[in-house]
Amino acid sequence: MKKDGSRLLCALNGDVSSPPPVWLMRQAGRYLPEYRELRAKAGSFWKLCMTPELAAEATLQPIRRFGFDAAIIFSDILTVPYALGREVIFEEGEGPSLQPVTSLLELEQEKQVWRERLAPAYETIQRVRGALPPEIAVLGFAGAPWTLATYMVAGRGGDEQRAARLWGYRDPHSFAVLLERIGDCVAQHLIAQIDVGADAVQLFDSWAGGLPEVRYREWVVEPTKRIVDKVKAAHPRARIIGFPRTASLQGYLLYAQETGVDAVSMDTGVPLSWAVENLPGNVVLQGNLDPVAVIAGGPALMRGIDDILAATAGRPLIFNLGHGILPDTPPENVAVLVEKVRAAR
Ligand code: CP3
Repeated sequence: MKKDGSRLLCALNGDVSSPPPVWLMRQAGRYLPEYRELRAKAGSFWKLCMTPELAAEATLQPIRRFGFDAAIIFSDILTVPYALGREVIFEEGEGPSLQPVTSLLELEQEKQVWRERLAPAYETIQRVRGALPPEIAVLGFAGAPWTLATYMVAGRGGDEQRAARLWGYRDPHSFAVLLERIGDCVAQHLIAQIDVGADAVQLFDSWAGGLPEVRYREWVVEPTKRIVDKVKAAHPRARIIGFPRTASLQGYLLYAQETGVDAVSMDTGVPLSWAVENLPGNVVLQGNLDPVAVIAGGPALMRGIDDILAATAGRPLIFNLGHGILPDTPPENVAVLVEKVRAAR
């Protein structure tokens, strides 16, 4: 781990910085003309992810334009299913599709193979770290086992994660093993990202919402805790942000209390006043501006930012959105957002 030279790490270590550090989920992406150009040059999104020189450039584009406090490496959560032996395809204009998993026997078990297939992310981190001053944190990431399982079992996103739930209900034992296997690969991937220079990592559990409480504990909280324990065993000072998107408030509380993450990223539906009152004081808050308010701009954007800053006054905060930035977001509004957050507190 680096020295705590960045505002992001200061916040993750519990400082109430003024102004708070700011970065945005999906800050690299289609809303930026320079990204669209780069993707056209790469030929496809997946090729862009898997070519470190181009992925590093995509990572740096929003930093140059807006000066965010953190650069999240350009990659995708579906690199882990790919490491586990699944073919991953991104069709133009459609979501991802994968070769569905029907049995544990289909999963690649060789850790060296995982490492080789995930190697582009490590080289991207090294390139990005080398290109940025220490004040800007480099963030690694991975999908959490439950969310990855929803894609791997269905072979695509959406569909209310029905296929993964069905496997979990019909054969709880083998489903638990599936989550463990995915979790082993995720933990190795996060540790390797920190090894090569990531200052912190985020775990995306995008489909954590809507589960019965007992299943949420088994499929979201416990697998996340296992990963956090492994990462912290390898890197005791590692900083981990968790994002159990659209979990219930009770679900967020459980996640903050039990998984061991240092920070919880909140979706737009979580009232930050509730989070300030109810989440343990040592857990740092990240979030949670409505991405649509950034498209709207103007007074809606100003008001949204003010509300977040007011609700979290006195508490460590990492300013972010409640979900990824949308492709039709005007880049000028993002510039206004950063300027407004920087002028705050
Ligand atoms: O945040 C960043 O700037 C870093 C890069 C990043 C991407 N995906 C790039 C991307 C990160 C952190 C992700 C995470 C990711 N990927 C998640 C978790 C966060 C979330 O959104 O809930 C998920 C579920 C995925 C899987 C995924 N990747 C889907 C479902 C899609 C298709 C939907 C879409 O937006 O097109 C992607 C594609 C994707 N990942 C794009 C980008 C920039 C768009 C690809 C393009 O250029 O066409």
